[in-house]
Amino acid sequence: MNVQLNVNGESRSATCAGWESLLTVLRDELDLLGSKNACEQGECGSCSVILDGDLVCSCLVMIGDCEGSDVTTIEGMGSADRLHRVQEAMVASGGVQCGFCTPGFVVAASHLLADNPHPDRDEIREALSGNVCRCTGYGAILRALESLAGDTP
Ligand code: FES
Ligand code: FES
Repeated sequence: MNVQLNVNGESRSATCAGWESLLTVLRDELDLLGSKNACEQGECGSCSVILDGDLVCSCLVMIGDCEGSDVTTIEGMGSADRLHRVQEAMVASGGVQCGFCTPGFVVAASHLLADNPHPDRDEIREALSGNVCRCTGYGAILRALESLAGDTP
């Protein structure tokens, strides 16, 4: 099938089997390698993207269900020259970790703050509960988001 998506504000198309995952298409067809495949079972959050406004594990979404959808990946959150405010806060707090877990944390955190600009610690923990760092380095990430929760967005 040919699927048409709006990815990070750009119209993109891909030719793929309808049963393939959104994650596979993002990485293998659209060359967007920021979303990672660490478990492919919906357990780790490293493949997190925003799909039509919802935070999803892209490894669990069939591309056949995505025709015409809006997708925001980590590549759409910021750039090396202009970091997203979540990325800036994570750098400042020492919360930047490995390349597998960090993209998913940034996507999940930015989704939370867009919906709830002033979350408390429990709300932050709940919002990040689908994201796993195998090294258990959660403290600095929580501090980064708490610093943003007190900001005016
Ligand atoms: S790779 Fe999708 S949740 Fe782990
Ligand atoms: S630093 Fe990425 S999994 Fe722990």
